[in-house]
Amino acid sequence: MSRVVYVLNGPNLNLLGKRQPQIYGYETLADVERECRKVAQELKLELHFHQSNREYEIIDWIHEARETAGGVVINPAAFTHTSVAILDALNACEFPVFEIHISNVHQREGFRHHSYISARATGVIAGFGTQGYLLALRRLAFLIDANERSHPSPSRAGSNAA
Ligand code: DQA
Repeated sequence: MSRVVYVLNGPNLNLLGKRQPQIYGYETLADVERECRKVAQELKLELHFHQSNREYEIIDWIHEARETAGGVVINPAAFTHTSVAILDALNACEFPVFEIHISNVHQREGFRHHSYISARATGVIAGFGTQGYLLALRRLAFLIDANERSHPSPSRAGSNAA
């Protein structure tokens, strides 16, 4: 299983730190990316970190991940509650998918209680602030490591046997 992981962020998350800080906090997306990069380095993951306000770009990154990655961590933001297209893109992938929300969406307006993405997600984290990204990366690395132990890659299997 590949150690490439994609962290994808949906609309308005470029405004993190400025947008409704009472809900989303004061950390910027650049801060989140920096923390994710630290954890990815520790876990020996190759991180691709993206944000877009355009649904098709997120879908294109999922298609890219489908070819190369071991998993996806996604905060689809408002697309969570609207996007069958993102769900379909994730359904075309075999790897683990972690859906994260900075805020506890279940404590908020009724329209945020339904997620199209949760039908596909391996796990969901909501209300852990930006730490949710780091927790999801740790879980993903755990699953990639476990998969590597149960299905060693030919080169590793060879070196074990020697
Ligand atoms: C969010 C929650 C969504 O309902 C909202 O549209 C967002 C951010 C979160 O991280 O808490 O933009 O995904």
